[in-house]
Amino acid sequence: MTKVIAIHSFKGGTGKTTLSANLATTLAANHRVGVMDLDLSGPGLHVIFGLKKGDVKATLTDIFLGDASPEDVVIDLSPRFGLSKGGLFFCPASNKVEDMLRLLKSGLEVTVFQDTLQKVGELYKLDYIIVDTHPGVENDTVLAMGCCDALVLVSRVDQQDLFGTAVMVLLAETFEKPTFLTLNMVPPGVKIKDAEKVGRELAQLFRSRFLAAFEFQMDVINNLSRSVFVIDNPNSPFAHKITGAAESLMRELGEAAKVAN
Ligand SMILES: Nc1ncnc2c1ncn2[C@@H]1O[C@H](COP(=O)(O)OP(=O)(O)OP(=O)(O)O)[C@@H](O)[C@H]1O
Ligand SMILES: [Mg+2]
Repeated sequence: MTKVIAIHSFKGGTGKTTLSANLATTLAANHRVGVMDLDLSGPGLHVIFGLKKGDVKATLTDIFLGDASPEDVVIDLSPRFGLSKGGLFFCPASNKVEDMLRLLKSGLEVTVFQDTLQKVGELYKLDYIIVDTHPGVENDTVLAMGCCDALVLVSRVDQQDLFGTAVMVLLAETFEKPTFLTLNMVPPGVKIKDAEKVGRELAQLFRSRFLAAFEFQMDVINNLSRSVFVIDNPNSPFAHKITGAAESLMRELGEAAKVAN
């Protein structure tokens, strides 16, 4: 069974898309991994994955509008990233304003999204699907939450973000979904050990689980979303942290599945 992991945050710009691309690529070294850009009104994954115009034949937005099927949309990125053991399969969203407006008008149905997840998972025999989302509480986010097996909540060490994250945990609880608190862009003035301690305490307070704390890294921001950072910098501290987070997530999901059975 494909496990669906949604990456979300209450506030924008916390690093969801960056973490989605890097986590998915890391997991894809040994597993078959799908990545969906569910930030339908502000997609960005296609930029990090370095797609050119001709690479995209149809989009997730087209599927949701009833104009395409998964086979038309999924792009196999495995050869591009040298993933011979696992595999990375990407579903881009449309970046055309007219498509975004059409979808905003028609709305996205839960059954259509669920059906898309299931078909993509089965067609490409995926172990995981990572879903990158739009920030805040809105229709598509609630859909992603309802359809996922786990929700990674990304927050900066910032009061606005953290209060909002507590709201998201409460919302996820109504769907009975496990949440994984991830702190990102920990400022240089805060020791990472202290951030991890705060993360663990907050996770306990929020009845969530703590996944990882990522420092604010100048080399990550200087990458300007031009590529998947861990591919270009496999030995960087950020890549090691991503690997640790991917392993914890897999372990936790495995344990959750065992408990559920
Ligand atoms: N740990 C980090 N250190 C430094 N820069 C980071 C880090 N994580 C992400 N960034 C940078 O922060 C910016 C915002 O990241 P990203 O686009 O992934 O956020 P987002 O949550 O997806 O935003 P949105 O809510 O708009 O979708 C990007 O320039 C990215 O390179
Ligand atoms: Mg984003």
